[in-house]
Amino acid sequence: TKREDIRNIAIIAHVDHGKTTLVDELLKQSGVFRSNQTVQERVMDSNDIERERGITILAKNTAVFYNDVKINIIDTPGHADFGGEVERVLKMVNGVVLVVDAYEGAMPQTKFVLKKALELELPVIVCINKIDRPEARPSEVIDEVLDLFIELDASDEQLDCPFVYASAKEGVAILELDHSPENMKPLFETIINYIPAPEGDPDAETQVLISTIDYNEYVGRIGVGKVDNGSLRLNQEVMLLNAHDPEKRKKVKIGKLYEFEGLKKIEVEKADIGAIVAISGIPDIHIGDTLCSLENPVPIPFQKISEPTIAMHFIVNDSPFAGQEGKFVTSRHLRERLFRELNTDVSLRVEETESTESYKVSGRGELHLSVLIENMRREGYEFAVSKAEVLYRTDENGKLLEPMETAIIDVPEEYTGTVIEKLSQRKGELQGMSTANGGYSRLEFSIPARGLIGYRGEFMTDTRGNGIINTVFDCYGPYKGDIQYRKQGSLIAFETGESITYGLFNAQERGTLFIGAGEKVYAGMIIGQNGKAEDIEVNICKRKQLTNTRSSGADDALKLTTPRILSLEQALEFIDTDELLEVTPENLRIRKKILD
Ligand code: GTP
Repeated sequence: TKREDIRNIAIIAHVDHGKTTLVDELLKQSGVFRSNQTVQERVMDSNDIERERGITILAKNTAVFYNDVKINIIDTPGHADFGGEVERVLKMVNGVVLVVDAYEGAMPQTKFVLKKALELELPVIVCINKIDRPEARPSEVIDEVLDLFIELDASDEQLDCPFVYASAKEGVAILELDHSPENMKPLFETIINYIPAPEGDPDAETQVLISTIDYNEYVGRIGVGKVDNGSLRLNQEVMLLNAHDPEKRKKVKIGKLYEFEGLKKIEVEKADIGAIVAISGIPDIHIGDTLCSLENPVPIPFQKISEPTIAMHFIVNDSPFAGQEGKFVTSRHLRERLFRELNTDVSLRVEETESTESYKVSGRGELHLSVLIENMRREGYEFAVSKAEVLYRTDENGKLLEPMETAIIDVPEEYTGTVIEKLSQRKGELQGMSTANGGYSRLEFSIPARGLIGYRGEFMTDTRGNGIINTVFDCYGPYKGDIQYRKQGSLIAFETGESITYGLFNAQERGTLFIGAGEKVYAGMIIGQNGKAEDIEVNICKRKQLTNTRSSGADDALKLTTPRILSLEQALEFIDTDELLEVTPENLRIRKKILD
């Protein structure tokens, strides 16, 4: 049976291309908000950090109505590092709206998410957004998107996709550029007409694949998924099949059943084929589990989660600052919190290490981990983190493989030389170079993920803050050999009474050194890049101010929120030894005296 009264879609886009604004507008025009009510805040990004970062982190669901058809919109995280999430949510839908900025054009994330959608054979509606921008170049962008379809081996049907032009900001969409815009109707209609209604057998035995987990302190864990077959009733007894081990099964009862309406969950008695439902009252429900009939429990195959590419150690903070800022400082706190995170984030791995003080946390790139770090710090966890390291693999012949990323860089022409030189040193290969608008060049590199670790800060300095760098995981490729370049940075020593702690920070943090713990300010000094304490400047700010600073990239954010507190040995690993000849605790004490 087809559910003609439902459409299940996902909106996919590169970061900042306007996904959230577009969904807000669909919500408004769907009549969910009365006309005298304004959406005061951006409704989709409710999480604090999401708002600050402007990146949608958790996939959330919304439903809008158009002519009695319910359109379930599954929000997708806007950054490739959350790759696992994107694949999972796409399994719930019958089509996607690909939002592309009419000026920026196709970006790495556009390519990444489109690739996933095409692989799953989903129909795509291309929405060229921000046509109100004076620099908008919608026709060129359409050509770029079509080139991308071809590059990604889209089928003929997929290539024949509809295009809609929109200004989410102004709440309008049009089908042809010479039409005069009125509202979002053209987009609503295209969704209804082009995206197939969900199908399934209403008389078959119940099957619901749990695709995301939500958490609410009153009702606990909430599983979200689509009714793939049969139906689901309140209080129904069903079999819960474990994602990783279908042999693990358990009889459970549907405690509460909800569907989505606007931004709310509405309690329902029964949900039919194609409905996106939320279920509470099952404490150990997990992502990838299938809920099925007791008589004939058959699991739905679960989309494989993208494997992590990068790891960091989360270490109990044994510095003199410990406990001054957060309330959770012990190894047990850290352990519990990290393992709890696994409930809702399936692309994350947490492993114990030989030391009870340290946990290895692996995820999909630096941003993924930095979001977790930031969340935990806000919740009052205090810990140190190690430098990110990439996760290697071997192929069937035992050859070493490493994660490769695609980096797309927009820089004013005068900086292209420097960027190419720096990235070449880091084993980046220039794949293409073109002229973008306004004296900018666009460079595309294929580069080992490890070559990008710590690069963003340097990039911002090298381009005087005018460059934009976007990266996305591409594939595992043959190991590219040692990377040798001079690590840039300043060795920092800071003193807290009895001891001196050292750390390496990127050299030019716009003159700001961020060793602040809570409201307290500690003495510190920057040792010049050659390891000599030549360049002494104390400019310390409070953590509070820092976390409110909108950062320019993932890497920056990571640095802002993770003042690394290192021992001298650890610090030495970060910097060429010959640069450090003169840096000894003795030396620093002497410098300190001179300062006094
Ligand atoms: P993430 O959640 O970070 O992935 O971003 P997003 O894709 O949801 O983008 P968002 O809706 O946050 O929009 C990003 C920026 O673009 C905001 O500053 C919006 O105001 C702006 N924007 C969105 N749509 C339009 C548009 O149609 N025209 C113009 N000029 N700006 C827009």
